[in-house]
Amino acid sequence: MDLEQEIKRRRTFAVIAHPDAGKTTLTEKLLLFGGAIHVAGAVKSNKIRKTATSDFMEIEKQRGISVATSVMGFEYGNVKINILDTPGHQDFAEDTYRTLTAVDSVIVVIDAAKGVEPQTLKLMDVCRMRSTPVIIFVNKLDRTGQDAFDLMDDLEQQLRVRVCPMTWPVGNGPAFKGVYNRYEKNLELFVSGEKQTIAESVKIDNLHGSELDKHLGEFAGRLREDLELVQGIYPVFDLSDYRDGKQAPVFFGSALNNFGVRELLDCFIDIAPSPKSFETEERTVRPEEPKLSGFIFKIHANMDPNHRDRIAFLRICSGKFRRNTNYLHVRLGKNFKFANPTAFMADKKSVVDEAWPGDIVGIYDTGNFKIGDTLTEGETIHFRGIPSFSPELFRYVENVDPIRYKQLAKGLEQLTDEGVAQLFVNQANGRKIIGTVGALQFDVIQYRLEHEYGALCSYQPLPLYKACWIESPDKSEIDEFKRRKWPFMATDKEGRNVFMAESHYALAASQEKFPNIRFHFSSEF
Ligand code: G4P
Repeated sequence: MDLEQEIKRRRTFAVIAHPDAGKTTLTEKLLLFGGAIHVAGAVKSNKIRKTATSDFMEIEKQRGISVATSVMGFEYGNVKINILDTPGHQDFAEDTYRTLTAVDSVIVVIDAAKGVEPQTLKLMDVCRMRSTPVIIFVNKLDRTGQDAFDLMDDLEQQLRVRVCPMTWPVGNGPAFKGVYNRYEKNLELFVSGEKQTIAESVKIDNLHGSELDKHLGEFAGRLREDLELVQGIYPVFDLSDYRDGKQAPVFFGSALNNFGVRELLDCFIDIAPSPKSFETEERTVRPEEPKLSGFIFKIHANMDPNHRDRIAFLRICSGKFRRNTNYLHVRLGKNFKFANPTAFMADKKSVVDEAWPGDIVGIYDTGNFKIGDTLTEGETIHFRGIPSFSPELFRYVENVDPIRYKQLAKGLEQLTDEGVAQLFVNQANGRKIIGTVGALQFDVIQYRLEHEYGALCSYQPLPLYKACWIESPDKSEIDEFKRRKWPFMATDKEGRNVFMAESHYALAASQEKFPNIRFHFSSEF
């Protein structure tokens, strides 16, 4: 197959959700459909969040398991599907944001009883920033949930996207009868058996005919009314609006009961985009370009002390990736070749000889890569769009063992390259500051410094509100700001100016006092 055909048949996406909405269950059902796994329970990474938050070792252990499920590739018909897993635990939200830079679309899972939840909102903000196409799956229809119209309002208002119901539910909870598929024009009946639930599909050509009454009884009239309203209120499905991230098709179902999942998957492979173009600092890279390019969006360290290697995850953006071929590591200006690049098929890993745009390749790394690094066949380009977000938790990090100062510095450098946390240096006192989005990362860093680098660190509290990057066309303005805010100025790893606001008030007051200075809440500006 040639490059263009390989690109056309790929779908690379992530399933995102607020914890407990059913992301793991849905992912598993998708894999079952693809024949990639044969028993439920194979996708465990998300169970991480179910452990006590203080038990980070347990979490790290499970993160180890999750390497295998970081990417789940499978074939469905002639389509190659790559699902990128995202951590469920909110302290690892930044991992999720970065993973979203490597996908072409997402499926959002919503709990029908809870509607839009806080984590869904944050994740959707990131999707909106990038105009990522979104399909919504409203889950748990077998439980008593909100009225479907209320849910639609909630989705539309909170997620700020036009919704287009592709299926429509008939009842919910104990009275859940099934879903009407507006596009296939059939009724999927939800039949509760003794032990399991089975779906029965009925073709309905005439919504006003007796066939509908036969299957739905008293619910038929309500469905007819609902569908008329739906038609009046919501736009028809528009492929380009969906691809531009302006319209989100909505499906209803129950992942646990494997109900409504096939419809979702079939529609997904029809409408979801194949690998897209990516922006670099220098130019737009199209997937059909013959030469390889890609970027590292995730680095996973091995927690086993006998195997110190890390896996860097490369998203291929253009051309064909080949094993044992020299590629330019743009930041280091050096060529590297990879003897054992890994592809991920469901819960298995295997060495690959070639891979295509949209695919994710795992590269064994001994410390050469950091998040955002670009690989090419020689061209100097830099992929954009791997932002760091403003951390909100801060601590000074101190060296405990003076003889091992170098190990500590190296450990901090590498762990922050991996994206575990962000490292800053206070401009006034030269002390190192670690900033994170979740409290767990402090424990992870301390543990890993000791066990992987033989360095001991301690923390000192630093009660700050937020770090933000500042810039202005007028250098004197920045100088004046720094003079006033000297104790709160820091430098990030790229040498940029970062304001460590001590409170919401201090930030607002500074913004007011220095109107020409721009305050950025993600590192990409
Ligand atoms: P997450 O990855 O989004 O965090 O959610 P996960 O799939 O782990 O699902 C969270 C809980 O919701 C699980 O129950 C799961 O079985 C249940 N669930 C998922 N889909 C449905 C559905 O369609 N209907 C109903 N009724 N429940 C659903 P749990 O008891 O927390 O875990 P488990 O012991 O069943 O694994």
